[in-house]
Amino acid sequence: MKVTELTPALLTAVLVAGVSGASFAQDKSAPVSAQELKAKTDYCKTCHGLSGQGFRGSFPMPRLAGQQPEYVKNQLQAFIERRRTNPVMFNVAHVLTPAMVTALSAYFKDLVPKPLGGAPRDSLAAGAKIYEEGVPAADVPPCASCHGPDAKGADAFPRLAGQLHDYMIKKLTNWDKERGQDKANPDSSAVMEPIAHKLTQAHIKAVAAYLSTLE
Ligand code: HEC
Ligand code: HEC
Repeated sequence: MKVTELTPALLTAVLVAGVSGASFAQDKSAPVSAQELKAKTDYCKTCHGLSGQGFRGSFPMPRLAGQQPEYVKNQLQAFIERRRTNPVMFNVAHVLTPAMVTALSAYFKDLVPKPLGGAPRDSLAAGAKIYEEGVPAADVPPCASCHGPDAKGADAFPRLAGQLHDYMIKKLTNWDKERGQDKANPDSSAVMEPIAHKLTQAHIKAVAAYLSTLE
């Protein structure tokens, strides 16, 4: 199935298929076969794009291509434990065995599609400046100091290069409503929380547009 054929009804069907698929029957400690991994990644790609480049449906599905394995693993775990709230990804992730989570986390790293694009281009220079220098007047550190000079991330710091700008705008705007939702168990989302909070909408739009153009 192509992503362009996804209707709300089909989306539900895809979700149910994911729930009743291979993951329930198998031994929880069994290693993941190449065949099982392919079936699962084909499913991820119905939403995240055939090369993991992301996809714009009724809401933006983030790019997973080139993403840091440790970050992907952290997020899948956060969806499962509802520390990061998203109904779609909870349904997708809570059926995954630990071995499948590990295999999926490593899988997307080596995909290198071109950025999906689509961001306005009028504030790219302002966005680059925020990325490299932060916003000293608002006490925002340079994004590059954590996400890397080329925005490719490392370990728990996500890659931002080529990410969909509209996805990043939503995430940065809603940070404290979606991430770190188990106050008793603070996680890596706490590092970004004060930064997301200090950015204005104009900063967010500029830096997200800039990052979405990077390969
Ligand atoms: C039905 C559509 C759908 C399917 C299928 C799906 N995802 Fe997602 N995924 C989403 C959406 C929507 C988001 C954005 C959630 C948000 O806005 O916080 C997301 C977010 C994610 C994130 C967080 C990315 C980031 O940059 O923080 C990861 C990791 C992820 N998905 C992995 C997977 C994997 C692995 C699979 C396959 C097992 C998969 N997804 C299948 C819709 C889907
Ligand atoms: C002190 C280190 C640090 C700095 C500085 C920083 N970040 Fe982050 N950022 C992180 C961490 C850690 C995460 C992952 C959070 C998690 O695991 O939930 C993150 C996550 C993000 C995400 C979510 C990515 C996704 O795929 O959902 C975006 C967007 C982001 N940062 C943008 C920025 C921008 C823009 C700046 C500069 C204005 C910035 N960050 C500065 C550490 C940092």
